[in-house]
Amino acid sequence: MIALACDHGGFALMQAVKKHLDELGLPWHDFGTWSEDSCDYPDYAAPAARAVASGECDRGILICGTGIGIAIAANKIRGIRAATCSDCFSAEATRRHNDANMLAMGARVLGEGLALKIVDIFLTTPFEGGRHQRRIDKISALESASGEEALLD
Ligand code: RB5
Repeated sequence: MIALACDHGGFALMQAVKKHLDELGLPWHDFGTWSEDSCDYPDYAAPAARAVASGECDRGILICGTGIGIAIAANKIRGIRAATCSDCFSAEATRRHNDANMLAMGARVLGEGLALKIVDIFLTTPFEGGRHQRRIDKISALESASGEEALLD
């Protein structure tokens, strides 16, 4: 299950992402927004990110104007590694190295064709583990005060 969230700036591109996921036979849950009326992206990023962090959804796709604000908001939720990607290399690398669990894209940055290609790469590229797992564990430690102290020792 893929969690989807966008703001008014990402609404049109999100409709194309939904159609693409349907064609691939991949299920999604839409956490809004549901129109091009102006709204605040944290209101939609947070429930989608919580669904991914809890395991209710496997991955997430976020879209705002730049892909930046909505990723910053999602990354405030413990367990979320949201990566803003505007190219195929970054989409592949953030899965292989960062085990990113949410993809963020900017509708004012990307054309639809490239955005859908980035979605495909994000959804199909595996995490490499190994030395990258150690780094993910250190990122996770930053989410707790005691873990952060341990990293400073
Ligand atoms: C909304 O105008 C815009 O600020 C938002 O979509 C996003 O780009 C923020 O990072």
